[in-house]
Amino acid sequence: MIEYFDPNKDYGTPASASTEKVTLMIDGVAVTVAAGTSVMRAAAVAGITIPKLCATDSLEAFGSCRLCAVEIEGWRGTPASCTTPVTEGMRVTTQNGKLAKLRRNIMELYISDHPLDCLICASNGDCELQDMAGAVGLREVRYDYAGANHLSATKDESNPYFSFDPAKCIVCSRCVRACEEVQGTFALSIAGRGFDSKVSVGVADNFLVSDCVSCGACVQACPTATLVEKSVLEQGQPEHSIVTTCAYCGVGCSFKAEMKGREVVRMVPYKGGHANHGHSCVKGRFAFGYATHPDRVKQPMIRDRIDQPWRTVSWDEAIDFAARRIKGIQAQYGRNSVGGITSSRCTNEETYLVQKLIRAAFGNNNTDTCARVCHSPTGFGLKTTLGESAGTQTFDSVMKSDVIMVIGANPTDAHPVFGSQVRRRLRQGATLIVVDPRHIDLLNTAHLGEHYHLALRPGTNVALMNALAHVVISEDLEDQGFITARTDGYQQWREFILDPIHSPETNEAITGVPADLVRQAARKFAAVPNAAIYYGLGVTEHSQGSTTVMGIANLAMATGNIGREGVGVNPLRGQNNVQGSCDMGSFPHELPGYQHVSDPVVRGRFEQVWGVDLDSQPGLRIPNMFDAAIEGTFKALYVQGEDIAQSDPNTQHVQAALTSLECLIVQDIFLNETAKYAHVFLPGASFLEKNGTFINAERRINRVRKVIPPLAGLADWEVTQKLSNALGYPMNYRHPSEIMDEIAQLTPTFTKVSYALLEQHGSIQWPCNDQYPVGTPIMHVDDFPIGKGQFAITPFVPTEERTNRRFPLLLTTGRILTQYNVGAQTRRTHNQVWHDEDVLELHPHDAEERGIAAGDWVGVTSRVGNTVLRAQVSERMQPGVVYTTFHHPFSGANVITTDNSDWATNCPEYKVTAVQLEKVSSPSNWQQRYRSFSKQQQDFLKQAVTPTVAATGR
Ligand code: SF4
Ligand code: SF4
Ligand code: SF4
Ligand code: FES
Repeated sequence: MIEYFDPNKDYGTPASASTEKVTLMIDGVAVTVAAGTSVMRAAAVAGITIPKLCATDSLEAFGSCRLCAVEIEGWRGTPASCTTPVTEGMRVTTQNGKLAKLRRNIMELYISDHPLDCLICASNGDCELQDMAGAVGLREVRYDYAGANHLSATKDESNPYFSFDPAKCIVCSRCVRACEEVQGTFALSIAGRGFDSKVSVGVADNFLVSDCVSCGACVQACPTATLVEKSVLEQGQPEHSIVTTCAYCGVGCSFKAEMKGREVVRMVPYKGGHANHGHSCVKGRFAFGYATHPDRVKQPMIRDRIDQPWRTVSWDEAIDFAARRIKGIQAQYGRNSVGGITSSRCTNEETYLVQKLIRAAFGNNNTDTCARVCHSPTGFGLKTTLGESAGTQTFDSVMKSDVIMVIGANPTDAHPVFGSQVRRRLRQGATLIVVDPRHIDLLNTAHLGEHYHLALRPGTNVALMNALAHVVISEDLEDQGFITARTDGYQQWREFILDPIHSPETNEAITGVPADLVRQAARKFAAVPNAAIYYGLGVTEHSQGSTTVMGIANLAMATGNIGREGVGVNPLRGQNNVQGSCDMGSFPHELPGYQHVSDPVVRGRFEQVWGVDLDSQPGLRIPNMFDAAIEGTFKALYVQGEDIAQSDPNTQHVQAALTSLECLIVQDIFLNETAKYAHVFLPGASFLEKNGTFINAERRINRVRKVIPPLAGLADWEVTQKLSNALGYPMNYRHPSEIMDEIAQLTPTFTKVSYALLEQHGSIQWPCNDQYPVGTPIMHVDDFPIGKGQFAITPFVPTEERTNRRFPLLLTTGRILTQYNVGAQTRRTHNQVWHDEDVLELHPHDAEERGIAAGDWVGVTSRVGNTVLRAQVSERMQPGVVYTTFHHPFSGANVITTDNSDWATNCPEYKVTAVQLEKVSSPSNWQQRYRSFSKQQQDFLKQAVTPTVAATGR
């Protein structure tokens, strides 16, 4: 018998990483496992079940319940199988009369202090305590309830998603350990001793106000009905499940959607998911209710002007209306007067089809994607230096890192499952270097060891990266072997970086980071065997976003930190399919696989398969589309699954562009902010309603599987296909797998990818082709796609967005854990209890100077606009820097962000806006206009929907 991993089975204790093998006998069966495996796990591998309560394979063995006792030949007593490692030749007995009696006695004590309401308990049928009582043959309990017990303990219902009923707690501590080991939050503890021991959630004894971040790991670990999802309490136990992928962030967690009929009862993180290994965050696990929210628009709608109510129509009528409008506009204003925007929330197959529609049916390259406003500099910067527009590692690689440098990212909020993994590695002793203006939560990691916080001024990333590299080179800390063998352009770069203008001492005046701290961090980074860099939008969303990305690659190459586990350059992608939407050819200059449209050979291959002539000129980027719309040369836009009216900078400019369009077609699940300016609304499908694939931040292609039928009748790819056919360009796919086959045919990094291969392996990291038939976990191991890595010259050019007396503070924007992007999904879930408005964080010094107290309304004015937010005074900010999120449309965070953008890619400079604050008492003019426009549009929606509701008699 050898080890085989079944993701649906609980092996009791974690797998051992050892490569050494050990063979033992369990109940007469020979089993071979990795050295360091527990006896309990070895038995599970052999198909032998040992009763257990305090053990589960997501947690280290604890050895408290004693139910798993076994006999081992030559050993005294009955050791706990969960805490006993296997040894060569060991002979184990798991079942005999003595063990059975011991286990029954233990179970009898547990059950004597447990309410016997199994028949009406929500966990009936899914309770390990119940299972164990049956497994050990417990038939009667000799003790009654007359003695002291915990049966009247009060329930905690404060968390919107799960309930805590201490009367059912067996104090196995699985929840406490899950919170520590899996999640890394340490919100729970066991208070008291002996009979008085109980699970404590802090002084308030209330989950909602505790440190708990609602990841649900404790709920998943609980063997009883003590911690249980409220959805299970309300809907009952699920009956079947389908494995799919989270539609929130770029971690790409796998989930089992557990169903009852056509209803999702709960989302359970899937142990077989290679990105999350059975863990999740509050969004993926709990915030899925938006998919069936009453705000879902389920019928196509059209109108001639945006000051008119909507008319609900059939799919055919809506598609015909849209196609006639596009054709008419092209006839009048020319082929290039129309374009489209693909979505990083949609699947690869849907995204591929939208860019194909634009190139083949619209006949131009006016396609862009929301990655324009987040990670386009990653594409440019990494392609220039490393030859591929993607991160180099797997998430698991971080468990081999000795130094983890996090630049402009806040993983515990924006990529929470990866954040937990980083915390695990930090608790094991890795060093943390944070480059961020804010004191991010990773710096609060429990048991954090050596760490450096380089709290730089917003807009000075390039200067700081150059300073770090300057220390490495000037102190001879570089990896000469790697540089010589693997890179080009080093000598020129070396001369550039050794210039004293890049020294930490010179740069201190620019970045605000003490030179000594920079030197210490650089020395540490260069000294360890494995140093990895993870970065986010705090790098890319700057006027020098692309330059910083290249600076990051320079530092990694100079120190030889590329091409093996534990190292690398890793962009943390914001939305679920940012990587995929870029890979699928959403940008105006690149066909799928980053193949330039100007290359006639590339174009020729696409022309042959697509059967059309393609434009050789790159099309318009999103900001160019807006400018052209205002100028009057761009007249129609098809937007699938994006909310540009809320997410893009300088909202008033975006609104002016959208109102200039003669035809705006929006495909979405809700009437989002952009749809309020639309003439055609095509109802979209949520991730639960579609088949396809997403690609996460580690290039992992994950399957998305249909769990319920599309609420509006069609999947998104079917809608795009209908529109294409109506425009006269035929598309005849029968299933998304056929679209993937075409992607594989045309994209060199995907040539071996197919749904069959994905089913076989669960997920695959591209490149996946003849050279790498089952994918590529770590990139650039032997060489780069461009042969050698290219050092890039990275001069620091200060942003034009400067502070002055009129605008003395710098505003930077970001995300929080419980909301997602523009909030269209999470605002329609119970996540609202944690964050129902965007607030302005400011340092006490800046607050005091302006007479602002926590909770005051504050007017925030930049060079382009003004909005009003509630103040939150916080030491997390450095003086002179203020911060807000953009999850709620009314806050108008993007009314104040400017048109400044990255020099290479036009990615907006969200992270640096010069502002002034003043205490105010009423909303801004923009907010008042927004409120009345939004109400008008909501009324139009209600008027459109009402006749249909009446007609159906509901
Ligand atoms: S709440 Fe559940 S997991 Fe936690 S100690 Fe009680 S029974 Fe164990
Ligand atoms: S939900 Fe997560 S953070 Fe909250 S107590 Fe449970 S494990 Fe800890
Ligand atoms: S970490 Fe990201 S992918 Fe995973 S559950 Fe949370 S939001 Fe979903
Ligand atoms: S399962 Fe081994 S002691 Fe509890």
